[in-house]
Amino acid sequence: MTKLWGGRFTRDTDASVEEFTSSISFDQRMYRQDILGSMAHARMLGKCGIITQAETEQILDGLKSILTDIEAGNFTFEIALEDIHMNVEKCLTERIGPVGGKLHTARSRNDQVALDTHMYMKTAILAIARLIHDMEQSIVEVAAAHKEIILPGYTHLQRAQPVLLSHHLLAYFQMLSRDFDRLAGVWQRSDIMPLGAGALAGTTFPIDRQMVADELKFAKIYENSMDAVSDRDYIVEFLSFASILMVHLSRLSEELILWSSTEFSFIELDDAHCTGSSIMPQKKNPDVCELVRGKTGRVVGHLMAMLTTLKGLPMTYNKDMQEDKEGLFDTIDTLKFSLSVYAAMLKGMKVNADRMRQVLDDDFSNATDMADYLVRKGLPFREAHSVVGKAVRLAIETKRNLAELALEDLLALCPLFEADILAALRIETCIEARNSAGGTSFAQVNLALEKCRHTLQRQQAMIETYIQGNI
Ligand code: ARG
Repeated sequence: MTKLWGGRFTRDTDASVEEFTSSISFDQRMYRQDILGSMAHARMLGKCGIITQAETEQILDGLKSILTDIEAGNFTFEIALEDIHMNVEKCLTERIGPVGGKLHTARSRNDQVALDTHMYMKTAILAIARLIHDMEQSIVEVAAAHKEIILPGYTHLQRAQPVLLSHHLLAYFQMLSRDFDRLAGVWQRSDIMPLGAGALAGTTFPIDRQMVADELKFAKIYENSMDAVSDRDYIVEFLSFASILMVHLSRLSEELILWSSTEFSFIELDDAHCTGSSIMPQKKNPDVCELVRGKTGRVVGHLMAMLTTLKGLPMTYNKDMQEDKEGLFDTIDTLKFSLSVYAAMLKGMKVNADRMRQVLDDDFSNATDMADYLVRKGLPFREAHSVVGKAVRLAIETKRNLAELALEDLLALCPLFEADILAALRIETCIEARNSAGGTSFAQVNLALEKCRHTLQRQQAMIETYIQGNI
């Protein structure tokens, strides 16, 4: 096949080289961005008098028909045409004749691919922002529906202090809301228009870059043509955001896997979100959680791959940069899948409140509260810690919990104990007492829920701006 760039070549490209250098198998998903970008470019060329109005119309009609055909599944992408840009351009010339060849005036594939990827990124950000928002909404719903439920909070995976289940879940809301804000940063750095940089140095034609930016709804244009064609920071930033988000989902996955084990039995995931075993009839496996945890590895891998690809690349475009897309696309797909399946799974999860309670009644999660009680009676905290440590040892040795120790036993350890210690050790008291800002008391968690709802509203407003900024 004759190449669009074939002029200086005397021999055909080796078939394996064609296959090796081609990106059409994966960059065809940017067809819409490529065509809309070309249309904006053509209109700009027409308006600036670089091509005639008649030529502009012909090009626009041709591009429109290609878009329709691709969307209808009536378009064959050719490996020999390397990438989405040349597949579209070659077809355009076939359809409208040599005037199609005028489209690439004042443009290079280097700024073209940068434009397409920026546009694609903005669309992906809109979709992912919505999904984070949905998942946060699920978390708020589940937290609000289980306001009274108390479970042990853990450090070192050892029972530590009682917490409200809603407090535990809202911790994930906070992580996701920071992810949302990080994504907003990626939006800002993706919302910059590279076209007009040409191959690297700008162009000899009197173009209007601002017009293209306005048409394609970009907030600004790249200030430096060399930067415009070689910047992949926004992709690295997206992959970092995605890695952090996946790590958050992975940690939640790990907790749900633990909680749904027979050993914990804190929750039961809905049948719709679990799978069985081909040999063990009793099994109900938390595959969704495990897969999300597993897929975190590949997303972090894509981040490492991108950083490693860019490290050491000289200015400006290098073919290495074609490697930016597969990892990016796979990350976008992985995030979309993980977030949407999670939002539904959380809502379907059954909470075993009795089991959580039974575990708490049977352990030492209220030990800090016993120490705090003595502190309120005037004992320095370090001494209180030591007294309670001895009480815990006594309780373990005599197979009791702290509330079951007799007042005489306690008085032998410290004269400050009084009958009101029993009330102080009640699990509800332990929760209620942690009323410091951001703590697990009922009042604090109610306040937190309210703030989360405000955050959701603020995010909804940002999503509206992403809708406005997308074409
Ligand atoms: N397929 C290429 C990429 O994804 C497009 C840009 C190619 N430019 C070039 N001069 N070879 O990076």
